[in-house]
Amino acid sequence: MNERNHQSAGKRNAGAGAGSGQPVLELDLVTKRIGGKTLVSGLSFAVNNGEIVGLLGPNGAGKTTTIRMIVGLIAMSEGDVRIGGSSVNAQFEKAIRHIGAIIENPEFYPYLSGMDNLKQFMRMTEGVTEARIREVTALVGLQDALDKKVKAYSLGMRQRLGIAQALLHKPKVLILDEPTNGLDPAGIREMRDYLKLIAEQEGIGILVSSHLLAEMELMCNRVVVIQEGKLIAVRSIKPDGTEDSKQLSISMEVTDVALGARAFEAMGNVELIGKDDASGKIVAKLQREDIPPLVKLLTDSGVGIYRIEENKASLEDEFMAWTGGGRIA
Ligand SMILES: Nc1ncnc2c1ncn2[C@@H]1O[C@H](COP(=O)(O)OP(=O)(O)OP(=O)(O)O)[C@@H](O)[C@H]1O
Ligand SMILES: [Mg+2]
Repeated sequence: MNERNHQSAGKRNAGAGAGSGQPVLELDLVTKRIGGKTLVSGLSFAVNNGEIVGLLGPNGAGKTTTIRMIVGLIAMSEGDVRIGGSSVNAQFEKAIRHIGAIIENPEFYPYLSGMDNLKQFMRMTEGVTEARIREVTALVGLQDALDKKVKAYSLGMRQRLGIAQALLHKPKVLILDEPTNGLDPAGIREMRDYLKLIAEQEGIGILVSSHLLAEMELMCNRVVVIQEGKLIAVRSIKPDGTEDSKQLSISMEVTDVALGARAFEAMGNVELIGKDDASGKIVAKLQREDIPPLVKLLTDSGVGIYRIEENKASLEDEFMAWTGGGRIA
């Protein structure tokens, strides 16, 4: 709808599943250190318009810290974030204009109606009209509750009012930190349906964090798994909640891991997930058609291939393995 084409970082956009468009949010080696402790370490990923990306990790993984850096609540120690093509470090005001976010609980005046709360916000925000209020409240299913006082809203309704408020200024990216926390199963389901509708109808990118894998699989087009502030895996999910079958996860045993990894990175559509010198293995995500040109590129670069295996483990198996199991609800 209000998308603008800006050409940037097409390569990191590799592997986007359904709804892949232009990257609207790009993290580039984002790092946060506080007093000698590294909370987030060299994190890079992108969110495209029309896409819901889940930031998944156990408690303390660095999800909130990452989101606080994206929206400029805390400074990055290293790296940069681009929002709608603008750098958070170099063009903060321009970048931040493209973001709608709920970081902690959305704050409202409890004795004012939903409508009056949004009107209050409208007065403080340039370019927001009453028509837009009607549009976003319909999008989150609150059109019939607008005259009710917010103190009479359920938690789910309050969350949705928060989302409506975050959408008022037509951001390119919506960021929600654990939006389903405290919601009952019906509320979680509603939230999921509304977020999908928003991504589609507003044509924006959505980043949601959660520590619940099952929930992320149902809600997201892609899941970015982090633990102890580091990127562990990126997975595409099909609309029915299963992993994207067109995307293969492969392990390749090669003669030179460092050189091999460089060849993987040079391929536009191949996503390098990990490399391990000890076993001589490179793990990547790609499509079947990418394999022949990749093998050619490796061979041309002087990298020999011992074997290529498909990793059949489900996202859950893999997530458990990476996070040591048990630490995830
Ligand atoms: N201001 C701070 N100073 C020092 N350490 C911090 C600070 N803020 C967060 N941390 C630490 O950073 C790590 C990541 O915290 P963060 O809140 O980002 O995790 P999270 O993934 O959002 O976890 P949760 O699922 O519990 O919300 C934790 O170990 C936390 O204790
Ligand atoms: Mg958190």
